[in-house]
Amino acid sequence: MTLNPDHKVVFQPMGRRVAVRPGASLLELAREAGVELEAACGGKGLCGRCRVKADGAASPPSNMERELLGPALAQGLRLACQTELPQGGVVWVPEESRRQEQVILTEIMDKPVSWDPAVRMAWLDLPPFQADDPAAQLERVLAQLDAQAGERKPGAWSLPPEPLSGLDSRGGLCTAVWRFDGSVLALEPGRPGPCLGLAVDLGTTTVAAYLCDLASGKLLSVEAAMNPQVAMGEDVISRISRGQQNPEALGEMAGLARQCINRLATQACARAGTGAQRIFDCTLVGNTAMHHIFLGLDPGGLARAPYAPVVSGAQDLPARELGLDFAPRAWVHVPPVKAGFVGADLTAVALALDAERISEPTLIADLGTNGEMMLAVDGAMLCCSTAAGPAFEGGHISCGMRGAPGAVERVRLSPETLRPEFKVIGGGRPLGLCGSGLVALVSQLVAAGAVSPEGRFNQAMAGERLRKGPSGWEFVLARGEETSGGQDLVLTTKDLSELQLAKAAMHAGASLMMAHMGLGRIERVLLAGAFGNYLDPADACGIGLFPGVKPEQVAGVGNAAGAGAVMALPSLEARAQAQRLADKMVYVELAGHPGFAEAFVRGMYFPRGPEG
Ligand code: FES
Repeated sequence: MTLNPDHKVVFQPMGRRVAVRPGASLLELAREAGVELEAACGGKGLCGRCRVKADGAASPPSNMERELLGPALAQGLRLACQTELPQGGVVWVPEESRRQEQVILTEIMDKPVSWDPAVRMAWLDLPPFQADDPAAQLERVLAQLDAQAGERKPGAWSLPPEPLSGLDSRGGLCTAVWRFDGSVLALEPGRPGPCLGLAVDLGTTTVAAYLCDLASGKLLSVEAAMNPQVAMGEDVISRISRGQQNPEALGEMAGLARQCINRLATQACARAGTGAQRIFDCTLVGNTAMHHIFLGLDPGGLARAPYAPVVSGAQDLPARELGLDFAPRAWVHVPPVKAGFVGADLTAVALALDAERISEPTLIADLGTNGEMMLAVDGAMLCCSTAAGPAFEGGHISCGMRGAPGAVERVRLSPETLRPEFKVIGGGRPLGLCGSGLVALVSQLVAAGAVSPEGRFNQAMAGERLRKGPSGWEFVLARGEETSGGQDLVLTTKDLSELQLAKAAMHAGASLMMAHMGLGRIERVLLAGAFGNYLDPADACGIGLFPGVKPEQVAGVGNAAGAGAVMALPSLEARAQAQRLADKMVYVELAGHPGFAEAFVRGMYFPRGPEG
């Protein structure tokens, strides 16, 4: 078929228009048109999240579409990633397929840290410049730097030529920015502005940036955004596999992360009344896949045994080489990663929580598609990662969505009638169920005896809310007339299984680490990251997420990875501590662990309800 350049696809209700391209799916065209569609699987036709209604002569449905859409196919629904409209047409994007801005957790604990920044500022007072004796002027600069550096004086200074050229020939006041290794990053006349640092938590879904004054250690402003890589795959596995299929996609994803950090830096600096050119140092944490993609390393090895990272030690790189528009000689420090799925983010969490000094058995967990966990007591630290799957982020759940406006985040049920009350992010009518809402709903159903420990609906309680649906038994949380999408918001038997798989993975990881340490019980569970913070401890315990803990033993600790990045910003000692922590942590490999299958099966069970 010949494609006509006049053929256009119009995305509604946004009214965005884009020319048809040979072979381009509606998902690709949507991106070009600036229409953000949900695409959890990165466009592989596996997640069913990119549903649209296509009006026009569309390509025939694929087998994946037939399977995922079922009867909805006859109503004109299609998967945008599987569909082409070669002659153009109108595409209606339902609300549930539009990518929602996630509620981003930026809250961090305020921890004292030894102030010892890698980059410092010195205020010099130079005599008039001697044009015929540049060395003498240089000597004066270095002598003043020596004096101000004091104990931190490096073995030798390295002063690149450009900074000197900026000096006023009449001498006078000038400002030097120097790094612990003796390199002078800037030598500027007068008092040009602050010396700033940016701590970045580069998450799979969100990015948070914390701007600090390196002279005072003060946190000046915080900015956050969705990670734009989400459009290329919602989780790390889909992004890694996308990179394996098309190496150019890796560069594209790195570019997206860098642009996002540049934008956040500009915004954070504007809020502080300055510009990103005043940023001289940066710390960046993220899981191993985010770390590799950002640094331009191939993350392919993380997807196959032995799941080894390309590099694991701390990295120090010029910001310019990473595409960051900070001061021309700014640096970026990335703390060490421990393993393929235990990244610099867990090292930062360990730093923020001072994991070495924890004296009672404490499980630290960052829950997500990939659950990273640490068990710490009396200086011993074990860590592991476990593939929980996407349920905690609302993925693979029939009415699941991210923690964005419209998501049900809390649920309470009447134990007798199962009548629900729920809280929706941003208020208004519900659109879907995010991870914390899912856990809350199941916890309440378990407590009411409507879900058995094996994860089956109790058919004896069938009634207004518990009914037989098109794909088996389901619980109706909200009827179509009460939801913003007009569809019933239900929890299906399959959704229960998805949650069981996620919780079993966490439970098994925790149990095996306990067994390795010879611990009979855990005294505390600290939940790091967004999901853990929005999760009600009573609900976490209500589904038996962790072995043998009570709600009062569970607490959220905010964005602990971000807190660790902030701590490492003004402190070389904190960076050294992060390295020590990574060296000291013992990684427990769960893949192929002889006890894993049994622990996983045990972890599948929900606690017994009132009848149990
Ligand atoms: S099914 Fe289309 S993006 Fe996943």
